[in-house]
Formats: sequence, C-alpha cells, structure tokens
Amino acid sequence: MANILIGGAWPYANGSLHLGRLASLLPGDVLARYFRAKGEKVLYVSGSDCHGTPVAVQAIQEGVTPRDIADRYHGEFVDCFTQLGFTYDLYTRTDQPFHHQVVRDLFAALVSSGYLYRKTTLQTYCETDQRFLPDRYVEGTCPVCGSRARGDQCDACSTLLDPSDLTEKTCKLCGHPPVERPTEHFYLALSKLQSELEEYASSARGWSDNAVQLTKRYLEEGLQDRAATRDLTWGVDVPVEGYEDKKIYVWVEAVSGYLSASKQWAAETGGDWKPFWLDGPEKLTAYYVHGKDNIPFHTLVWPALLMGAGGYHLPDRILSCEYMTLEGKKFSTSRNWAVWVPDLLTRYQPDSIRYFLIANGPEKRDTDFSWREFIHSHNGELLGAFGNFVNRTLAFLNNSFGGVVPEGDVEEEWRVSIEKLYEEAGALLEKGHLKEALELIFGWIRRANKFFDERKPWVQIKENREACGATLSGCVQLIANFASLLNPFLPFSCEKIRGFLGLGQPGWRWITVPAGRELADVALLFERIDTRRIEEETRLLEKRAVTPE
Ligand code: MF3
Ligand code: ZN
Repeated sequence: MANILIGGAWPYANGSLHLGRLASLLPGDVLARYFRAKGEKVLYVSGSDCHGTPVAVQAIQEGVTPRDIADRYHGEFVDCFTQLGFTYDLYTRTDQPFHHQVVRDLFAALVSSGYLYRKTTLQTYCETDQRFLPDRYVEGTCPVCGSRARGDQCDACSTLLDPSDLTEKTCKLCGHPPVERPTEHFYLALSKLQSELEEYASSARGWSDNAVQLTKRYLEEGLQDRAATRDLTWGVDVPVEGYEDKKIYVWVEAVSGYLSASKQWAAETGGDWKPFWLDGPEKLTAYYVHGKDNIPFHTLVWPALLMGAGGYHLPDRILSCEYMTLEGKKFSTSRNWAVWVPDLLTRYQPDSIRYFLIANGPEKRDTDFSWREFIHSHNGELLGAFGNFVNRTLAFLNNSFGGVVPEGDVEEEWRVSIEKLYEEAGALLEKGHLKEALELIFGWIRRANKFFDERKPWVQIKENREACGATLSGCVQLIANFASLLNPFLPFSCEKIRGFLGLGQPGWRWITVPAGRELADVALLFERIDTRRIEEETRLLEKRAVTPE
C-alpha cells in the first residue's frame, strides 16, 4: 500500500467561486477518489485562504472586517464543495489558531536555520492613508510586459512582483501615487537554495508542462530572495520580537496550510500525519493541484520552505491547469463576466458540472466554457451515451426479466478489455491525464451501446430467451464496472447505479453482479436539458454583465 498526499489549492475567501477556479480544484477530488478505490492510504486536504490583501482589500471596499468576509465565503465554499461531492479529509481555513501555530513554528525554524533573514528596504507607503501598501494595495504597470498589474504578481506574464517593481503606481485605497519608506522585513533566502531547487526541479517527474516551463524560466533568470513578512494587521503573527506590527506573507503562510491541515486532521481524527510528510518504509507520493497562477509558489517557494525546515517530503506531482474562458472571453469578476458556482448548482446536477470540467476543462491548454457546449455535453455524452446505456439495459431487465439479473457470463473478450481499461485509465490518472482517462472510459461506453444495438435483445427475447438473458447479464456486468471506473468523475450517478444493482463501495478492479440479483427501484440518471436553455442562459449572462467605468 502507498501513501498519497493530495494538496488542493486554497481558494481566497474574498469572493464566490467561479467555474474557472473550480476547474483548477476538481482534479484533486478525482484523484482522491481514484486512489481510495485502488486501496491506497489517501490524505486530501485544503481550506480557505483567509488572509492576505485579497481579503483585506475586499473588507475595506465593503466597510466590514476581514473576518466577516472570510466567514461569508468560507461558508459558501464549504457548501459548494459539499454539493459537488468533494471528499476532502479536511477542509479548514487559515484564520484558525491551529494553522497559526504550525506556521509560526515553521517560520521560527527557518529563522534559526538562517533561511529567513532580516533586511531593511524601501517599501511603498501612502501618505494619505498613512500606511504601507503591500501587494494588492498597489496597482501599476508591470515592468516586464507593460500590462496593468497588482503589486504581488502580473497575471498577464506570470512575473512575481514586489509593489516597488511597478511603475505608475497608485494606491488602491485612495488612488494617489505612493511614496517609499524604509521598513525591516524577513526575507526568504531563495538564492541560497538555487542549486538545490535546480536539482529538485530537473529531477521532477509528472509535473504539468506549464509548471516545468515556468519553473525553468524562474531558475534560469536566477532566484531572488523574497520578503516573507508584510506591514499588515490581518494575518499570522511573526514570532519574533519587534515584529508586533507585521504579519507573515500570505503565500508563505497559505502553502504551509498543506502541513498544518495534515496535522490538524491527525489531531482531530487520531490519524498519523507523518506517513504523508516524512519518508519512511512505505512509498509516499505528494500531488499538488491548482491553477497556473499558483505555479511558482508550489514548485519553488513551498519546496524552499520545506528544504529550509529540513526533513520533509517535497512535492512529487504538480498539476497546474491552464485558464478557462467564458464564451470566448476572459472571466472577469469586476465585469461580472462569470459563471458562479453557487448559482450554477441551483439549476444543474453536480455530475454534469464535473463531467464538463474534466472532459472540456483546461487541463493542458486554455479551454472555453459556453452554454452551448455545456448543455450539449450533458445531453449528448452523459445522457446520450452513459445514461442511455444504463437506462435501456435496466428498463429491459425490468420489463422482460422481472428485474432479476439472468444467467449468463459476460464474454471473455469484454472482461479482458475492461480489466485492461482499469489499468490504462488508472495509469493515466496517476500521471494527471484525467481528461484522457475519461475519454478512454467513454470510448468503452460507446462500444457497450453498440454491443446492445448489435445483439438486438428486443429481437432475441422473441427468438431465444436464454441468449437475450446472456446479453442483458453481460450489459449489467459492464454497467457495474462503469460505475466503478466513472466513480471518481461522476460520483453521484455511480452511487445511484450501485443502489440499483445492490453493490458496495467502489473498488478499482473487475466486479461481477451475480445472477438472481434483484434490481432495486430504477430511476433515470439524467434528464434531458431543453436546448432552449442555451439561449436563456446566454442572455442571462449578458444581462448580468456590467460594463466597466
Ligand atoms: N489563495 C490562492 C489563490 O486563490 C491559492 C493559494 S494555494 C496555497 O490563488 F497553497 F498557497 F494555499
Ligand atoms: Zn492611499
């Protein structure tokens, strides 16, 4: 048995989840479900990222406290993840004492080992607001690509920034240009770890291509030490005297959440976090799942913190997806050009959303969400291929065999193919190729439909009842196995099928349903979505969009 740690990215608790964000998180749940079914020991953790300037700036704009904002969106995230069937072992939040303690300990360890050191530099300061302006409190022009950027990172070219790097800076609070003032901070000595990180990155296997490329670019440019504290009042305290007015930088602290959440899970359940973090006799693989704007924090900053603290297992597989566009345009919160997950969940089944996001999601390249594609993928593939196969088989069994599985073994050829499918789909999943795995399984669903068509059980039943029984029994075996193979992707429909067929928890190997088994009440897996909805939804999206001032 192997140990599998899965770290899902921690969404900022400063606004609702939109579909693009969800697309970057869902692969984590698919992997967790797959590895559990295979029989591995899985620890899948994440939580809400409650600190940092994204939350603080939102609070100022609404005239409430950062805690209010964090509470509101954390609650909403938990709701969405529950409805979508996410199986986190722990989904926590960074504004909790447990997380704070783990982060302070890690920070103190890095101060002692010398990987965090003090330095005084000039930082942007607003004379109007009489405060320092870290990260997103400043906006300006990116010195690398010339786009409008925030003080922490340029979304256009992925450069990590310091507010003072920007030109034509303005204060996010009052719009005035800031000045610079000296202030002391702790810096993370990334440059000292340059060669260790190079070695680590070059021996990495199973990183998404964008993570490999971007990490290489940072390493070739030469790593620069980065400030690990901020002049802020909202965040984790710095465990050093004289730093009472400062907080630990949100990224240093949020990535540490993978470790703190693992320890918290252990404390709450009596489990052991160590097999998921320290190398031992059992094999350990750590997966990290997020969007591409998170890459350097997971391939450089987090490994650097772990190296500096010493003894921890580094990330093995990095799954950083690309961006999703909406009807051909970039998602935009400020323009309300977005599909919000809580809203989507009021009208569509979680499995339809999960299916679309894996089958058409931005796993390797940018992809587009359009209402047309979404509704067609539900009607055509989920309902048309999968739902149809299940429904026609079970309905036939009910009508012609009294809902009892007849005698008759599935043909050897089919069994061998499906056994191979478990292996091949599993191998693809372990490499992070979720979309290919799903396509492969759906190829076999289409073949199963063809098998049904060619056997013509509606003719067989009149000519040779036994042969008809064998056909249907074969189809039932396929359905049972599809319910295991698709469970990581479509857990709600697969659970329904297990209910129809009286099956236990899904595994990752060939299973059979014995002859004589009586079907429970069968219901449709999916309803057809009226295609008029395409136009209605698109109109609604356009109506709700706001034009920026
Ligand atoms: N909050 C960050 C974002 O939404 C992601 C943090 S992932 C973590 O982009 F690992 F650093 F926590
Ligand atoms: Zn200002």
